[in-house]
Amino acid sequence: MAKYNFDEIHDRRGTNSIKWDMGPKYMGRDDLLPMWVADMDFKLPDEIIEDIVKSASRGIYGYTDPGEDYIKSLNYWFKTRHGFEVESDWVIVQPGVVFGISIAIRALTEPGDAVMVQQPVYYPFTRTIEQNGRRVVNNELLYTDGGYEIDFEDFEEKIISENVKMFILCSPHNPVGRVWTRDELLKMARICKEHDVYVFADEIHFDFVYSSYTHIPYISLGREFTDRLIIGTSASKTFNMAGLQIANIIIPDPEVREKYRKVNTASGYGQCAITGLYGVMSAYTKGAEWLDEMLEYIEGNLACVRNFLKEKLPKVHLVEPEGTYLIWLDFTELVQDHKELEKLIVDKAHLWLDPGSIFGSRSSLFERVNIACPRLTIVQAMDQLYEAVRSYCDDTM
Ligand SMILES: Cc1ncc(COP(=O)(O)O)c(C=O)c1O
Repeated sequence: MAKYNFDEIHDRRGTNSIKWDMGPKYMGRDDLLPMWVADMDFKLPDEIIEDIVKSASRGIYGYTDPGEDYIKSLNYWFKTRHGFEVESDWVIVQPGVVFGISIAIRALTEPGDAVMVQQPVYYPFTRTIEQNGRRVVNNELLYTDGGYEIDFEDFEEKIISENVKMFILCSPHNPVGRVWTRDELLKMARICKEHDVYVFADEIHFDFVYSSYTHIPYISLGREFTDRLIIGTSASKTFNMAGLQIANIIIPDPEVREKYRKVNTASGYGQCAITGLYGVMSAYTKGAEWLDEMLEYIEGNLACVRNFLKEKLPKVHLVEPEGTYLIWLDFTELVQDHKELEKLIVDKAHLWLDPGSIFGSRSSLFERVNIACPRLTIVQAMDQLYEAVRSYCDDTM
């Protein structure tokens, strides 16, 4: 029998939530059902909440640094869930993974250098590269038969011709939902090694894989691939703790780590928040059962969307995800242009999704939807989409 109730609706309005309270600020309206940012609507189990509250209730909030108990909790999680361990001096605690990407770019590349991504991809990658004065090089993922694959020829060709210094890997991939196979990862790792390319492996979604898939941590590919590796991960996605502002940047190579540390110090960042530190320790030691049930629940949400689209909206195509709680919907059979699609989603369906155009220029007829919410919200969103598409089809007939 299920121990946790993921059906429960929590009213998050009035909590300064960017998902639920910032409609007027970001969208100029307050009538949209938010399913955009990667932030879940589930409450953590009591035992984790109690540990966070306990850390806050001491009443003294001085500077805090991760000690050996923190590393022990990371290693417990990494070992039991993903089969690897880290040494304590490899770990640098940061407020977020994107912060870590920015520091890594500054530490390991020069202004004007090329940094490669695989679009369509999580949009802060390109923004962070550009705003640090580096060049974005895109190894566009191939969209064939409704799924995404890596164009390896282009991958290597671009690394050589553009003199790429760093590759930001999204694994599992947001938004296309691929969980890369060992073969795919090894191919990329070999090419990067051959051309001395740093790899920032963003594995923030590593705990979200559907039941027939396995996440392969980049670090498990072999010792020969770790000397230019930076891993970004965090409990913030798995346990919805982004508001606690803590992530782990893991750098096995001492020279790379030293370069990273120098720029991190220059940024002025010091210590992490107490609640974040205790939140991670608690989640990583006590959260496994809750996560397993939650993954099953999300798989149920996915099935609900899949069945609904098949039966009622066959022109909206679900790109079958292998991981993450974000789904990628293809509207190319239904609409011709992205402004029309935005009108349909926002004005007619009253949904707040992430438009495909922000993930890459070839994805303007896609939408990313966050399905980490109670089933009722999924049903409501599908109903709103259905009504909107019906009225759109009536209007355009
Ligand atoms: C691939 C990826 N990396 C990083 C982040 C954000 O991480 P953080 O809030 O730790 O910067 C997200 C959030 O959605 C993400 O999807």
